[in-house]
Amino acid sequence: MRNFFKIVLRVLVGLVALIAVLVVFVYWRSSARLHRIYQVTVPSPALPADVAALERGHHLAATRGCLDCHGTDLGGAKVIDDPAMGLIFGPNLTHGRGGLPPNYSDQDFVRAVRHGVAADGHGLFLMPSDDYKEFTESDMADLIAFVKSVPPVDRESVAPRVGPVARVLLVAGKIKLAADVIDHAGLKPSVVRPGATVAYGRYVAASCTGCHGANFSGGKIDAGPPNWPPAANLTPHPSGRLARWTESDFFAAIRTGRRPDGTPLDPVMPRAFAQLNDTELKAIWAFLQTLPSVPTSTR
Ligand code: HEC
Ligand code: HEC
Repeated sequence: MRNFFKIVLRVLVGLVALIAVLVVFVYWRSSARLHRIYQVTVPSPALPADVAALERGHHLAATRGCLDCHGTDLGGAKVIDDPAMGLIFGPNLTHGRGGLPPNYSDQDFVRAVRHGVAADGHGLFLMPSDDYKEFTESDMADLIAFVKSVPPVDRESVAPRVGPVARVLLVAGKIKLAADVIDHAGLKPSVVRPGATVAYGRYVAASCTGCHGANFSGGKIDAGPPNWPPAANLTPHPSGRLARWTESDFFAAIRTGRRPDGTPLDPVMPRAFAQLNDTELKAIWAFLQTLPSVPTSTR
């Protein structure tokens, strides 16, 4: 009997030691990922100063998620607060107390938005730069001009605290930093004109891929907390709903947050897209019609 307890005790001690080693390993590997430094040089953008450009910049900030994650006043906002995934704030992007340093340059903005790389060189966590990397030169410039025009907000930024499950997913490669995915040297800004065209739809719909997947088949959103619903299949496949929708159903769903059958869309589907203008929505709809039909969650 004494021997039996000794064996059980040894197995337990061994298990605890193994778990401790695993925890240390995950923490060490994920920290290495989060603190890795990327060297990216970018050209300085030529910023516009006219009112129309600032309005365009504001429209982009509102419809591409910047205001969702960085606050409508750009003074910073809580994005994720979940014991498993962490406590993640979009930092204050103004020059108020707690905001960006006074020497934050236009190139630093380009590096953050297009490349997912912070001014100090670390890969930005959660910021979906993979969706923004191909902004046209003029959209990039209008966006930066707008962010710089916002009045200063005094609000301390909170550095991301990445939770244990997010760390495991980082180490397992299920969550990827945009900086790791983007081809920094080969990056080419889009050249496309606004219009109700498939090409412009593909351009605008880049902001849907972070959640709906590169092939728009939907499914589990890897960087999201466990309580986030899966994203919907936006391809014309019968396993999704859009095959049975008309363009006006699509408009109504994005603008009102309700499907044709009256059911509400989960708020994880950003309401900010309601501000996409008619041209942008028409273009996205036209583009979605051209997608290869694939079953849900096959990204
Ligand atoms: C899903 C949330 C999210 C969205 C959408 C988002 N950001 Fe961020 N952004 C973050 C987080 C989180 C950080 C800080 C990450 C870190 O420090 O690792 C950040 C950091 C930044 C930084 C600071 C980089 C630095 O040098 O420290 C800038 C500038 C920025 N974002 C601009 C933008 C702009 C412009 C947009 C819209 C085109 C945008 N962000 C959209 C979450 C987001
Ligand atoms: C932050 C994540 C996120 C982003 C970004 C996002 N979506 Fe969604 N979307 C979702 C989720 C989650 C659902 C499922 C909501 C539900 O089940 O109630 C959804 C549902 C939808 C639906 C409803 C489809 C259906 O079958 O009910 C449409 C349409 C849609 N999204 C279009 C878009 C478009 C267009 C974009 C880009 C302009 C976009 N989404 C960007 C998360 C996102």
